[in-house]
Amino acid sequence: MANLSLKTLQDAVVDSQVWKSIFRHGYTMNRRNRLLAITNNVFYHILPTKITKHGMRMRFHWGAGIMTFYLFLVLTFTGVLLMFYYVPTVPRAYFDMKDLQNVVPFGNILRNMHRYAAHAMVFMVMVHMARTFYTASYKPPREFNWMVGVILLKLTFLLSFSGYLLPWDQLAIWAVTVGTNMARATPMLGYEGPFSNLIGLKITNDIRFALLGGTTVGSATLLRFYVLHCIALPIALTALIAVHFWRVRRDGYSGDVPVKTS
Ligand code: HEM
Repeated sequence: MANLSLKTLQDAVVDSQVWKSIFRHGYTMNRRNRLLAITNNVFYHILPTKITKHGMRMRFHWGAGIMTFYLFLVLTFTGVLLMFYYVPTVPRAYFDMKDLQNVVPFGNILRNMHRYAAHAMVFMVMVHMARTFYTASYKPPREFNWMVGVILLKLTFLLSFSGYLLPWDQLAIWAVTVGTNMARATPMLGYEGPFSNLIGLKITNDIRFALLGGTTVGSATLLRFYVLHCIALPIALTALIAVHFWRVRRDGYSGDVPVKTS
């Protein structure tokens, strides 16, 4: 009896307009609907609908792309929680970080999850790039997605670099001083780089000045790096990851070579 009413309820849910507006395929699991369930689902459709066994093997894809993505999700989640406790001003940044470690319940775990996931993401994105290189996945028709990947790599590095300043300890300040000093030698962007005098670059209008908000690391730098780290770079990365996934599906998977059966 209980089973019967459960079945009626299930049928009512599956027949409702709300259900049908979310799941466009029918409920019976025939061959066609199984395929539609995959094509219509945003979470299942990272890879093309049809894929060979070879393409699905761990030893082919190493799971590195999807692991990079999961790490990005962990970083977004823990990063939003960290934002509740951290204020990016010179008098507060360092002490907020210390409070997170010593006062906030589970704060140390939260901070370390964010930190280690960041290291792991930088490592995994390089592993993923190595895999796509070794399997020649950069060749046509995937050249565009490779270029999207290169920008994703740069954005991942920039996220890691901008996050490094936020604890506002000696390590952070001097690492960013060294890093941004390199920027001043960038061709056509830094005032000490090649062609700088042709376009009138000075210490007060080059890329380093734009990054620091001045000529040395200071309160303006902390605010700029915070905005870059928490808003601009994550939005850019999210948008490009969407394009990247869409192209993986559109271009077909490079692991999908016909497997010889004879
Ligand atoms: C935030 C960084 C990135 C994320 C989250 C990401 C994610 C993914 C995922 C989930 C896939 C499909 C599964 C797989 O093949 O592992 C994929 C495929 C691919 N990725 Fe990335 N990726 C990133 C960065 C890069 C970089 C740096 C490159 C290279 C410069 C790259 C090039 C490619 C290519 C060419 C494919 C197609 C692979 C094929 O068809 O075999 N990706 N990516």
